[in-house]
Amino acid sequence: MNAILTLTNVTKSFQHKTAVNNVSFSIGQGEVVAILGPNGAGKTTTISMILGLLKPTAGEIRLFNLEPHEKQVREKIGTMLQEVSVMTGLKVREILQLIRSYYPKPLDLEELINLTGLTEQDLKTRAEKLSGGQKRRLSFALALAGNPELIIFDEPTVGMDITSRNRFWHTVRALTEQGKTIIFSTHYLQEADDAADRIFLFKDGSIVADGTPQQIKARISKQSVSFIVDPELSLEKLYLHSEIDDIYRKDNRVYVQSTNTDRVLELIFQEKIGARDIQIERGKLEEAFEQLTGNDKEAI
Ligand SMILES: Nc1ncnc2c1ncn2[C@@H]1O[C@H](COP(=O)(O)OP(=O)(O)OP(=O)(O)O)[C@@H](O)[C@H]1O
Ligand SMILES: [Mg+2]
Repeated sequence: MNAILTLTNVTKSFQHKTAVNNVSFSIGQGEVVAILGPNGAGKTTTISMILGLLKPTAGEIRLFNLEPHEKQVREKIGTMLQEVSVMTGLKVREILQLIRSYYPKPLDLEELINLTGLTEQDLKTRAEKLSGGQKRRLSFALALAGNPELIIFDEPTVGMDITSRNRFWHTVRALTEQGKTIIFSTHYLQEADDAADRIFLFKDGSIVADGTPQQIKARISKQSVSFIVDPELSLEKLYLHSEIDDIYRKDNRVYVQSTNTDRVLELIFQEKIGARDIQIERGKLEEAFEQLTGNDKEAI
């Protein structure tokens, strides 16, 4: 893997708080990484250090084999921050032109408009008069203006309506197809599940899980097999097997919880209970998130 970003034992302490605690990871070119974690977990602080906006208290960050604040690095990165602030007094088109002029190989203005869904009306409007969602769109356009190789978004879709959100992810997919590397934080777990090939789960300044969405979901200790069965049928036979942790009925289906779903399937056939429409419940990212970021130490 050709790593374009590496954090080695990175820590950031504020006066009374260690916001990021000894974090290490590498991201390869073309990866799409989602950063998840509860409020205050250290996502924005990590992103700010990668962008060179905050200096780590300890540890090292390398981007394209350089330090984050170097000019060659800045030219290759685009970003959309959690707090959107826009330049006042200029029209959107003027701001786009201005920011494009800072980069050696900016994206074509037309392409920028197409990718981000800015309208003719938006372009004529002064930035401070845009609505919250329109400001996000401008901020997205500014992130892409320099045709960056690495794009970092901190909670990009907050405040976007459904159409804008769909458009945003559509564009992100197009960018990944061009081989761009993308890092984004989000509280919408479905977005991480849909868009990311890798998830970092932050808790209290540390990474408690790093893997594909599938791998992280697989870390939920209890999976289940569900099926439809004659409601009169007693399921006592299944209870006798120690591999089964719990059995419950929900919405006309029976759920059998176990860490070993293969074994549950065997038992269902072995005990001839006449189960129909059998499904293996792989677990949801929400459940993994709750388990891995909750206070349940055993889950981690
Ligand atoms: N400038 C600062 N001074 C002091 N403490 C800070 C500062 N910036 C962040 N923190 C603290 O560091 C911790 C991590 O904050 P950070 O903004 O990185 O969290 P986050 O994961 O981005 O949360 P959210 O999901 O709410 O955006 C929090 O406890 C926060 O209060
Ligand atoms: Mg944040």
